Amino acid sequence: MAANRGQFGSRLGFIFAAAGSAVGLGNIWGFPTQAASNGGAAFLLVYLILAFALAYPVLMAELILGRYTHGNSVAALSGIARGPVTKVIGTGTGLLGILVASMILSFYGIVAGWMLGYTLSYPLDVVGASSAADWLTGFTMPRNLILMGVFMLMTIAIIMGGVKEGIERWSSRLMPTLIITLIALAAYVLTLEGAMTGLRVYLIPDFSKIFSSQLILSALGSAFFSLSLGVGTMLVYGSYISDKEHLPSIGAQVALIDVGIAVLAGFLILPVMYVAAERGVEIFSASGALLSEDTLILTVLPELFATMGTVGVALATAFFSLMTIAALTSSISILEVPVAFIVERFDWSRKKAAVVAGGLIASMSGAIILDFENLFGAVIALSTRYGQPLLGLLLCVFVGWVWQRNTLLAELKKNDPHVAEGLFWRIWPVYVRFVCPVIIAIIFYRSLV
Ligand code: TRP
Repeated sequence: MAANRGQFGSRLGFIFAAAGSAVGLGNIWGFPTQAASNGGAAFLLVYLILAFALAYPVLMAELILGRYTHGNSVAALSGIARGPVTKVIGTGTGLLGILVASMILSFYGIVAGWMLGYTLSYPLDVVGASSAADWLTGFTMPRNLILMGVFMLMTIAIIMGGVKEGIERWSSRLMPTLIITLIALAAYVLTLEGAMTGLRVYLIPDFSKIFSSQLILSALGSAFFSLSLGVGTMLVYGSYISDKEHLPSIGAQVALIDVGIAVLAGFLILPVMYVAAERGVEIFSASGALLSEDTLILTVLPELFATMGTVGVALATAFFSLMTIAALTSSISILEVPVAFIVERFDWSRKKAAVVAGGLIASMSGAIILDFENLFGAVIALSTRYGQPLLGLLLCVFVGWVWQRNTLLAELKKNDPHVAEGLFWRIWPVYVRFVCPVIIAIIFYRSLV
């Protein structure tokens, strides 16, 4: 098995791939408006602390465990078990992770399909195909099904290519494109009337808002979603890292890029919203809060672009391409979780596994589309509010308590002989054993009551 497993070709390739997984719709969809509505720079500070104090240790748990076993998530978790009971629990946790990953991809693929539709609609409208453009942006069942199907095919095609030729190659192409597009868009928008008001709303700290426990909990939830934690994504990516790499520092780089892009997205989204307000677009909901999430992306922004003529078409196309790219580098990382398992457990070819797993998940998306009202929100809640924290908890317990300390230390010593004397080893094990499980348990409990 280990001999013909894929491996990332370079450190940078891994960083692009893992950051590509982390940077997704979550960063642009939710983070900027959440920050602006909840204390601006004060919220950024809280988010940064949470990301590094709580999400980063869990990210490291996944990366180290993956790299140690060089196997899929089920093999990894059952591989560190100490006896029959922990083996069963480990296997169960890995399988549950695969299920939750599939659920996440099933709703993610639908939203990503919308992004694809908007990307194509603007240029089509320009060349006169306005009925096609309208079809692509109208909320109908056939359109939702077809766009989701196309997006899933793109995801499957990349995963069929393998770790180096598929995941690494495409992430290394798409991530720089995403970063450049984001910076260029923000730089342009900042020159427009109204942008500075948005920047002020985004950055002026208001410490009175950040002490609500509800807020801290939801910030932590977003940090977990944003870093792709719990379901085995980072574990599987970690399993393709070479033993020569120093994990604590590349993990930190991935977390930094993810948080950095979320913060950078705020420099685009908030100014854009206030530019829109300047032009008469409604940016507040009836309750006075900033519009966010789907309304922001699918209503506010298109209304703004419509006021801008040709420039608006270019901006819109760039913006929705950015969203599609962000979604694609994330969706491949989710599909890799079941595919790695099937390939290694049942000895299937990667191509067959990608088509079958991707096809099954696409049918789940299809079912959601057919009963959108009832299923869409339910699948999101089930997978991200309950599934992810529960899995994160089990993961910490496994890495912190079940895994033999000596083998764990030996794994880290592979490329850092003095790791035992360093800061990471002094702090991190305590975190995965005590701090993370307790805090995740509190979040989980709060989300139940
Ligand atoms: N992190 C991605 C985002 O911010 C989505 C994502 C990719 C994800 N892989 C995941 C979320 C695994 C949860 C679990 O959009």
